[in-house]
Amino acid sequence: MTEPMLHVFDAYGTLFDVHSAVARHRALVGPEADRLSDLWRTKQLEYTWTRSLMGAYRDFMALTEEALDFAAARCGGLSAEARAKLLSAYETLDAFPDVAPTLAALKAKDAKLVILSNGTPAMLESAVRSAGLAGLLDPSISVAEVGVFKTDSKVYERVGARYGVAPTQVSFQSSNRWDVAGAAKFGFRAVWINRTRAPDEYPDLPPAAVLDDLGGLLALSDREPSGSQS
Ligand code: LAC
Repeated sequence: MTEPMLHVFDAYGTLFDVHSAVARHRALVGPEADRLSDLWRTKQLEYTWTRSLMGAYRDFMALTEEALDFAAARCGGLSAEARAKLLSAYETLDAFPDVAPTLAALKAKDAKLVILSNGTPAMLESAVRSAGLAGLLDPSISVAEVGVFKTDSKVYERVGARYGVAPTQVSFQSSNRWDVAGAAKFGFRAVWINRTRAPDEYPDLPPAAVLDDLGGLLALSDREPSGSQS
């Protein structure tokens, strides 16, 4: 009997819809709501990369606030009420509709499921709880354990440090192609959940599989334990 693969998930964009915060408060945010939401996410990620390169870690909630302030300044401003509501919504983002059923089906097959994310432990705990996923997932692994963000290999190393598994025993799912590249470089089976039908990138660090949403994972997990889909 072979051990089932450990399924590791990115959080933001993969399980949780980062644009659901602005979507909930669209009227309060105003006509530039979509641009603001895109810029908020872009800047938030940029700050993770620049701070990792500089060795100047600040936690993901702080960077999320800084990114929102930049996006707001670029998009005509934001009232104090709207700012507070958006930051609060970021702690209770919507999960994509395919997430709960897929995690439940994997769990029913005895898969072990865990989040590996840039988010702080508090952010992740809140997002998991509010999306009703707490009973399906092991306690999340946060980059706060190492004080650096993805795609530093120290982040992906946390999975083996906690579970004592080799990278090849890990199926890592992310909607972020740059995160898939980092995970593939580390040696995980990296599955790209290409929710936005984005063009491919990082040609030298390809995903092991590309899926439209998490649902396709069930078919992949039926083909385990080979773990060598391409
Ligand atoms: C995360 C970011 C990359 O959850 O979305 O780690």
